[in-house]
Amino acid sequence: MGDFSPNANLILVGFMGVGKSSLGRQIAENWSRPFLDTDKIIQEKTSCTIPEIFAKHGEAFFRRLEQKCVDEWLPKKGAVISTGGGILTSPGMTEKLQQLGVVFVLRASPQTIYERTKNCGSRPLLHTGEDAIAHIKKMLAEREPAYAKAGIQIRTDFRPICELASTVSRIFCRETAINGA
Ligand code: S3P
Repeated sequence: MGDFSPNANLILVGFMGVGKSSLGRQIAENWSRPFLDTDKIIQEKTSCTIPEIFAKHGEAFFRRLEQKCVDEWLPKKGAVISTGGGILTSPGMTEKLQQLGVVFVLRASPQTIYERTKNCGSRPLLHTGEDAIAHIKKMLAEREPAYAKAGIQIRTDFRPICELASTVSRIFCRETAINGA
């Protein structure tokens, strides 16, 4: 089990474009807690952008950086943490994140994900061509088993950030009160 004290980390996982960063930033601001993003930490530590890391070293190298980030660079408590959409593809990662805090899995439809990501060129694993939605559906299906068991499921389609922030905060408080010391 994770820490689950009221000071536990709140961890957001889910596919690209589901709204992890926007929601995480909002919750962190509401609670005056630090907001951290694994992609951002990796970029700072390596002084490279995510597309540069993928282009120069490949996906497997990036996944090792994500593992290092979770093992060594993330705080043990007190933060709101957003993670890269493929972080759960590394073996053992789900359990590690569950140890590190209360995990929420954000969900959105392929269409919503497409709309939210189509103008952003910084995601090396997303296609921008005409079969973009089919590609998203395929990746979602591959990752579905990992997302399904990682944590508390939250749909984000058509829900304003402030409403999502209060829903997630309420669940977090309930979880930490039930499981806390
Ligand atoms: C990835 C998601 C990205 C980033 C990298 C790989 C993925 O993060 O980690 O491009 O495999 O789904 P976001 O989910 O924040 O876009």
